[in-house]
Amino acid sequence: MTNERVHCIAHPLAAHHLRIIRDASTPTWQFRSAVDRLAMLLGVYATEDLKTRETVVTTPLAKTAAQVLTDRIGLVPILRAGLGLVDPLLQLLPEAEVWHLGLYRNEETATPVRYYDKLPATSPVDIALVLDPMLATGGSVRLVVERLAQWGVPDIRVVSVIAAQPGLDRVRGEFPQVRFFVGAIDPELNARQFIVPGLGDAGDRIFNTPSA
Ligand code: PRP
Repeated sequence: MTNERVHCIAHPLAAHHLRIIRDASTPTWQFRSAVDRLAMLLGVYATEDLKTRETVVTTPLAKTAAQVLTDRIGLVPILRAGLGLVDPLLQLLPEAEVWHLGLYRNEETATPVRYYDKLPATSPVDIALVLDPMLATGGSVRLVVERLAQWGVPDIRVVSVIAAQPGLDRVRGEFPQVRFFVGAIDPELNARQFIVPGLGDAGDRIFNTPSA
């Protein structure tokens, strides 16, 4: 599904890496590398309309027109799993700022608990790319979006490997200004509020930790 606010990328390479990510038998090293590649593809789509200004560059042969990125961009990984998307996005945007917000889901209630907030008091970025491999109930992303909006970020975009339709609908409904760039939209959540079919627990699979 793609509309002006939700971009579910339909690229064969994205589908290829998504198959590796979904597969329960994929070892950690390969899971990380597939997340890395898919994140880079998502990053290309999420930055398609960045502003530039004209400049002139001198090649070894002549002067020619060139472009300079002008938007101030912040990457906002949601700890912990969002860290897995930082490096690929920094490959594309080496001058981006990285701002960390830490949340974990309470296992009984599936509601997010804040434990770290490293946004400065002033000077918000122009565009924030919220990074998290999974959007399940949407509780974590909605807290982060709320925090960034309160900080004063005018343009907030969520980059996620897999989103569940109910969670996506929830965040879209509450924050009509936010755009989403996702690798897949899965239909449902199970009784434990895990995305089905999903990919399991992205944080555990990226960091090779046992699932709770
Ligand atoms: C996972 C995931 C998201 C959140 C999604 O993190 O990485 O942050 O849950 O769920 P939600 O949409 O229902 O809020 P988790 O709480 O497992 O923490 P982790 O990143 O430390 O593994």
